[in-house]
Amino acid sequence: MVTISTHSSWLSSAIALLCLFPILVKAVDKSVFKSCAESSFCKRNRHYADAIDRSQFWASPYEVQTSSLKYDIWTGKLEGNLIKNLPNGVQEQIIFPFELSFLVSGNARLKIDEERRMKQNISIPGFGNLNKQRYNQAAEWALASGAAQSMGENVTVHGLEDIQNGFAQTFEITYGPGGSKSVVMSMNPFKMDFRNQGESQVLLNSDGLINLEHWRPQPANDQLFDFQLNEMELNHDMWADQFKGFKDTKPRGPESIALDITFSGYSHVYGIPEHSDTLSLRQTRGGYGNHDEPYRLYNVDIFEYEPNSALPMYGAIPFMQAHKQESSAGVFWINAADTYIDIIKTAASNEDSFDITSASTRTHWMSEAGIIDLVVMMGDTPGSINKLYGDLTGFTTLPQLSAASYHQCRWNYNTQDDVLEVDENFDLNDIPYDVIWLDIEYTKDRSYFTWDPATFPNPELMMQKLDESKRKLTAIIDPHLKASSRVGSEIKAQGLAIHDKDRNPFLGQCWPGDSYWIDTTNVDARNYWANQYALGSEFAGNSTNLFIWNDMNEPSVFHGVETTINRDSIHIDGWENRDLHNLYGMSVVNGTYEGFIARDANSRPFILTRSFFAGSQRFGAAWTGDNVATWESLQIATPMLLTNGVAGMPFMGADVGGFFKNPTSELLARWYQSGTFYPFFRAHAHIDTKRREPFLVAEPYKSVIRDAIKLRYALLPSIYTAFYHASVDGSPIMMPVYYYTPKNERSFAIDDQFFVGNTGILAKPVVQQDVDSVEIYIPDDEVYYDYFNYHCYEGMGYHSLKVELDTIPLLSRGGHIYARRDRFRRSSELMKFDPFTLIVTLSKSGFAKGDLYIDDGNSFDHQSGDFIHYEFTFNSGFKKLMAVNQNKSNPDTHKFIDGMANVTIEKIIIVGDLTPTRSDSQVRVSQNTESWDASIVNKSLTSSAHVLVIKKPNVTIGTDWEIQV
Ligand SMILES: *[C@@H]1O[C@H](CO)[C@@H](O)[C@H](O)[C@H]1NC(C)=O
Ligand SMILES: *[C@@H]1O[C@H](CO)[C@@H](O)[C@H](O)[C@H]1NC(C)=O
Ligand SMILES: *[C@@H]1O[C@H](CO)[C@@H](O)[C@H](O)[C@H]1NC(C)=O
Ligand SMILES: *[C@@H]1O[C@H](CO)[C@@H](O)[C@H](O)[C@H]1NC(C)=O
Repeated sequence: MVTISTHSSWLSSAIALLCLFPILVKAVDKSVFKSCAESSFCKRNRHYADAIDRSQFWASPYEVQTSSLKYDIWTGKLEGNLIKNLPNGVQEQIIFPFELSFLVSGNARLKIDEERRMKQNISIPGFGNLNKQRYNQAAEWALASGAAQSMGENVTVHGLEDIQNGFAQTFEITYGPGGSKSVVMSMNPFKMDFRNQGESQVLLNSDGLINLEHWRPQPANDQLFDFQLNEMELNHDMWADQFKGFKDTKPRGPESIALDITFSGYSHVYGIPEHSDTLSLRQTRGGYGNHDEPYRLYNVDIFEYEPNSALPMYGAIPFMQAHKQESSAGVFWINAADTYIDIIKTAASNEDSFDITSASTRTHWMSEAGIIDLVVMMGDTPGSINKLYGDLTGFTTLPQLSAASYHQCRWNYNTQDDVLEVDENFDLNDIPYDVIWLDIEYTKDRSYFTWDPATFPNPELMMQKLDESKRKLTAIIDPHLKASSRVGSEIKAQGLAIHDKDRNPFLGQCWPGDSYWIDTTNVDARNYWANQYALGSEFAGNSTNLFIWNDMNEPSVFHGVETTINRDSIHIDGWENRDLHNLYGMSVVNGTYEGFIARDANSRPFILTRSFFAGSQRFGAAWTGDNVATWESLQIATPMLLTNGVAGMPFMGADVGGFFKNPTSELLARWYQSGTFYPFFRAHAHIDTKRREPFLVAEPYKSVIRDAIKLRYALLPSIYTAFYHASVDGSPIMMPVYYYTPKNERSFAIDDQFFVGNTGILAKPVVQQDVDSVEIYIPDDEVYYDYFNYHCYEGMGYHSLKVELDTIPLLSRGGHIYARRDRFRRSSELMKFDPFTLIVTLSKSGFAKGDLYIDDGNSFDHQSGDFIHYEFTFNSGFKKLMAVNQNKSNPDTHKFIDGMANVTIEKIIIVGDLTPTRSDSQVRVSQNTESWDASIVNKSLTSSAHVLVIKKPNVTIGTDWEIQV
């Protein structure tokens, strides 16, 4: 969805709304969004950093009050005060209580609040019940329940007495397994140095940029620019600002927080989505190939966004990962306010400054409001950081199998007959799909929770028809509610809307015209929202194949400041939108999720959201918003999706085909070949574009698209297994190359190719027009086989692959085993009892390993053990392929497991050097104390790997088996 141009005048946009089409489409106008210099708190903090940089005599005015330090051995918490000394003769000391805790997840967490605001000992003239505290609830939203629990296990404090006696300036706390992690805290100036095995990893305030804007009374009107605290501080726009004619009142005055975080010895950092940029993040202080602006996290409706930009987008995850050969680290900045992040890479001292590999990365985090609340993670590999982050914020929820399949969307399928005709055309053209989508036009007058009776007279019947081929429907529901509609007037009357600064329901423009926004950060509003999805309700009916899409939830406000709601609008408990802006979208989805759980507690909800925050992975999928049908848009989608995977939210896709404009058939076909590997695989198109459902595309493109979609369905068992891993340990589904080769520095910035989970499948989809070859990078010394013809590639470095229109450059790394289902069906559920094919790709040493996870694809029974999970290994010494059960639970329900009793593996393809020891025509199969022979075909192809195919081994997938070759 898209907002109309923010530049049209009131009158012309009202007309545009009435006529609706055509919608003005143009490239994103950067000036719609505040640059750092236009954002007062960012300007102040960057100024502070620059001033410190220039000053030779600078000493940070922040010190730890040594007498305040106390450590509680029972909770493993260190508490104390950070003091801000006001210079220039101001005697006052400002107190910031802090708490350092060590979490059961193995992470360390630092919180810093402001004493005076904690005690609400401030005055806000003229603003009755505005909350006087710093916003401190972002963690409650972001963290999975119980994740923040701290404890004293393995925590030891060394030398605290020396500090208290004035004999020392630093002390150390060790924590983690065997005390392998530690933090050294310096008193004056305040610094922290987090170490793993004694090596510095993450430094806080080593550049002295910490800046906590303490409360001060608002000066009289004629001296808005009050005294300067010191020569470093700038008092620019502390009490109000103007941007594009919008006034932002700042009744609580300046309250930003900022801190520098240095990743010591790390030259690559990743994460902090959402930006349309490279996987390895760029520097932000100018220079060739760098940004001039900090990366910004502020959820906005940035339609037609451009690649290679630090501009804010629809979602915000304030989590950064750093990686180097020896280790990985992560920092989670738990703050939902507008946030800018500067990145500078510097050569380590005494090192050759040209040696980028020994550089450190200095980052500067600046948030407009809230408390400092951050978690430091340290580990050996990037995957270990995903696990630590997921232990904290939750893992990707295992979706319905349908949701991991192919989705067909368009703005709009106009009538229920239109929907059913599209459905039928997929079948007539032998193209599988699982979910068809409805954009806003299915509603009556764009009032959500209604169906337009003229076009959708019987939605239940439509959903029943879709269910005949086990297909689903996803309908859009946005948080802006038509003011004159039932829900609009109810949320107004019940006080459940977001309010403006004057305490009236915030009234703005969106799709339905005059709209109110539901305040889902309020539990009552969330319950109201959840109830709208109740079983048997007029909108949601009784169908079990209805899913929901929450769009425009940044929230998007037409003609709003920076396309969104005013910062000084008010949520429950007197919080300003400024405090929690970036988590609002997640709160909407939270309500939807709870509504669907109430509807059917044993069916996994599927929800797509455009706006997201840390923790949104617990609720469903997101996509990259309103992209364009250009090659550049196709290209940037891959690094964007990789970044989301690094940041713990891998269930993500980009609109296949591009939302705006009409793709050429070639671009569309190439986009499907990429989309096949997107965790969320959906085609979508703007209402002004030509219809482009796969069956409408001319040959040869239609067949290319069909093959790409069929490849998705064939690989669905492996992709779903990758989802399973994401759901238990946070592994990315589209996996960056450096996750496989964490010691190969040349792989650290590669973001135009990726692995599919742990299958060893290396994809480099074509994202350029009219190419006849691609260069694919092999990141290690292993052998790689072409996925389709088993041609071998060996040797670290770039290899050239010839491509035709129908080629997806796809290699299989030696050493892996993965599963496929090769029979064509109309939808994923219809494949349920189909047999599997196993692909075994032998490593150079003749070894291979992999796994397969399956469950009913719909209920929560897998959580009580009703799933099948097998690990497969091929051992070169014994020439034996084995399947060993990994489901160690003792399930109370085995409905699914029992139902799968007769599902078999129908074929096993072993690729790589292998000479059968038993016979050239047979292998010996054993399962359940029985043994039998299965025939093989043993092929040596010129210029390709040796391939051994075991035909009909007829092992069932639910019990252990082995095959002797
Ligand atoms: C929704 O958010 C509330 C408040 O943070 C939380 O208690 C609840 O567990 C969340 N719901 C889900 C399904 O996670
Ligand atoms: C504490 O140390 C033990 C032994 O090294 C380790 O097994 C355990 O996981 C550690 N616990 C935490 C919370 O670090
Ligand atoms: C849902 O089912 C109930 C009970 O069978 C029925 O009364 C109601 O009309 C149904 N609702 C819809 C929208 O079909
Ligand atoms: C599996 O096959 C056996 C033998 O044909 C049959 O008795 C049994 O019902 C089948 N089980 C399932 C779950 O289909």
